[in-house]
Amino acid sequence: MRVNPGRSGVAIDAGGYTVHVGAGLRDDLAPLIAETAPAHHYAVITDANISARYAEPLVAALARFGRTSLHVIPGGESFKTRESWSRLTDELLDAGGTRDTTVVALGGGVVGDLAGFVAATYMRGVPVVQVPTTLLAMIDASVGGKTGVDTQAGKNLVGAFHAPAAVVADVDVLSTLPPAHRRAGLAEAIKHGVIADADYLTTIESQLDALQRAESGATLPLVARSVEIKADVARADPLERGRRRILNFGHTLGHAIEHVSGFSLLHGECVAIGMVLEARLAERLGIAEAGVAERIEDTLIRAKLPTSRPAHMDVDAIVASTRRDKKARAGAVEYALPTRIGEMTEQGGRWSVPVDEETVRAILA
Ligand SMILES: NC(=O)c1ccc[n+]([C@@H]2O[C@H](COP(=O)([O-])OP(=O)(O)OC[C@H]3O[C@@H](n4cnc5c(N)ncnc54)[C@H](O)[C@@H]3O)[C@@H](O)[C@H]2O)c1
Ligand SMILES: [Zn+2]
Repeated sequence: MRVNPGRSGVAIDAGGYTVHVGAGLRDDLAPLIAETAPAHHYAVITDANISARYAEPLVAALARFGRTSLHVIPGGESFKTRESWSRLTDELLDAGGTRDTTVVALGGGVVGDLAGFVAATYMRGVPVVQVPTTLLAMIDASVGGKTGVDTQAGKNLVGAFHAPAAVVADVDVLSTLPPAHRRAGLAEAIKHGVIADADYLTTIESQLDALQRAESGATLPLVARSVEIKADVARADPLERGRRRILNFGHTLGHAIEHVSGFSLLHGECVAIGMVLEARLAERLGIAEAGVAERIEDTLIRAKLPTSRPAHMDVDAIVASTRRDKKARAGAVEYALPTRIGEMTEQGGRWSVPVDEETVRAILA
């Protein structure tokens, strides 16, 4: 649901917090943070790739509202670890952070997940304002309250649910985001169309060129609609006991491929491959109508995203990795699968189905 269209964008009620989406919100950022999560100390956590351009001006602007500190991690998934969590919490303690600290997560999904987890655990929990700077973080990672870090055994295996005090997404910052990362974010938007809104998928298809150029006119409505879809699903099922599982479409195989690639492929690229494979799985099981996988594949190809397993990647390793997935219950690994574009399968309140390894292997072969 959208409320009070702001000066330069929209504000979306995500259930307990607001997601502000706009173009050129940067000047409004510090007052918005101070208003929604007032504190004596604002700890801005960011990564080295964006610190100078975006974090330093924000820290300077926040200084009007309280004490500030800036905490910079190197960029990249390999730093979303307990070691970074440990270093950051120590830095916050050294900076004199108390319970009266607001954490500001300024960056992509890596910073959002890590800084969110720092906020969830620091002094048993302090507020976090998510300021996503990648398309993926704007439409996905910053909304819904999941935070955490990776371990050797797999992604996101240690974490906490910690809803943000607010999310502020300024689509203008996407102008500096490398094109491969823009496309990776588009994969998640395409997922939102597949799982919940066929018309939205059609709109995305018609705007792919403008979206890849990160034009604000096309990007702002995309971020807003994706946030609505994600927030609606997450609000109704915050702890992922039921329908929230549909957001995992493409992710069971996607995460496995990402893991086996040693994170050399981007998350969104792996989700793109995972969506095509899982849609084929759904067709083979008679869950999806014929043509769903092909439609998804067509769109992804036009968005210049990969759609098949890298030829050299070992099928056994992918299958083994799916067993580590949190979505694996006792026995068979579970998949959230589409019935048609815009609709996911549901049986007796269950939004994921167990699939035997033989069938998964056949699809991967
Ligand atoms: N919590 C959730 O619900 C959720 C959902 C989806 C994904 N995630 C997580 O998000 C992470 C992926 O996030 P991501 O794709 O944003 O990756 P990322 O955070 O690694 O950012 C991608 C790269 O872009 C750089 N960057 C960020 N903003 C920029 C900008 N405006 N201009 C130039 N460069 C910029 C970063 O430094 C980094 O090098 C994964 O760890 C994934 O597990 C979490
Ligand atoms: Zn994802």
